[in-house]
Amino acid sequence: MSLYSGMTRTGAVSERACDLRSDTVTRPDEEMRTIIATAKVGDDVYGEDPTALRLEAAMAECLGKEAAVFFPTGTQSNLAALMAHCGRGDEAIVGNRYHIYCDEAAGAAVLAGISLCPVTIEAGGQITPNTVASAIKDDDPHYAHSRLLCLENTVGGRVITLDKMRATSKVAKDHGLAIHLDGARFFNAITALECTPVALAGVADTVSVCLSKGLGAPVGSILAGTAKIIAKARRNRKILGGAMRQVGVLAAAGLHALENNVDRLTEDHRRAAVLAEALRALNVGTVCADTNMIFFTPAPRHHVSLRNHMAKAGVLIGGQSPSIRMVLHKDIDDVRLDQAITAFQAYYHDHQL
Ligand SMILES: Cc1ncc(COP(=O)(O)O)c(C=O)c1O
Repeated sequence: MSLYSGMTRTGAVSERACDLRSDTVTRPDEEMRTIIATAKVGDDVYGEDPTALRLEAAMAECLGKEAAVFFPTGTQSNLAALMAHCGRGDEAIVGNRYHIYCDEAAGAAVLAGISLCPVTIEAGGQITPNTVASAIKDDDPHYAHSRLLCLENTVGGRVITLDKMRATSKVAKDHGLAIHLDGARFFNAITALECTPVALAGVADTVSVCLSKGLGAPVGSILAGTAKIIAKARRNRKILGGAMRQVGVLAAAGLHALENNVDRLTEDHRRAAVLAEALRALNVGTVCADTNMIFFTPAPRHHVSLRNHMAKAGVLIGGQSPSIRMVLHKDIDDVRLDQAITAFQAYYHDHQL
């Protein structure tokens, strides 16, 4: 069953719901809405939107890269990066559970003629150096050119250490490949690793960071890298239809998120650990938790009734099976967390195994 089962096309969700399906569900708060409403704007296709320029400069500096470009989505940012690194018939090596391979509708193949070479990831989410080494193809007319390694961190909420990222990245670099990091939850990763943004961004040539997940902006991703590669990515954004005009209204939300919502990610991680502990205490299924995500595997017969019970209690959980994903984010405070824990406890009080 897909990650998105029971998650999409459900209709409008009450603002009062405790929505644990994803960290993409956050809504801009009053402060962010005021900042959006008062943002300075210009035509960003002409390079004249002051707020987009500020956001791009701030992110480039934060990640220790020469340049950055604002995208509407992480999917488009990843694809524009792949297109900047690879030509038609080239190959990108990517983890077989990573978003670029599994969840981006094969855009690299459909729109860019890039072959994705999926490789097995470890239980912790990483691609090992040996796996990369054996996936890189010889320069032979039978084969695609191996041009790029795509990394991800965090992966399904699991954080990969800097040492592991660096070791894998080094093998690719030694073979002349470029490296792209899908850091949709980059700031969750650096929060868990307790490292600087520059340290994690340093493992890759290009880094894509989502503003619309744990950081709580309604829209947007940033791609950072060298000035040369970002110029290519900016052109690719135009090709993909993602060059926007008075985009400062969105960039302002991204800047606000970057300045105000990074430190609070520790709260999401703490709450994820609290919810995981509460589920473990019920002793009703396997619980895996890291950063802001929890994967809970109840007995199969409980899936539908548990989900319905939680929904009636105002708590939305994913419809995946066998493991249900729950994600902590800015709109889940301690009161809502208690609401979720109480609803789980009530269900298992009435439905003992
Ligand atoms: C790891 C990862 N990469 C990329 C994306 C794509 O982001 P977007 O939904 O903005 O296209 C997501 C979205 O959930 C993601 O989880």
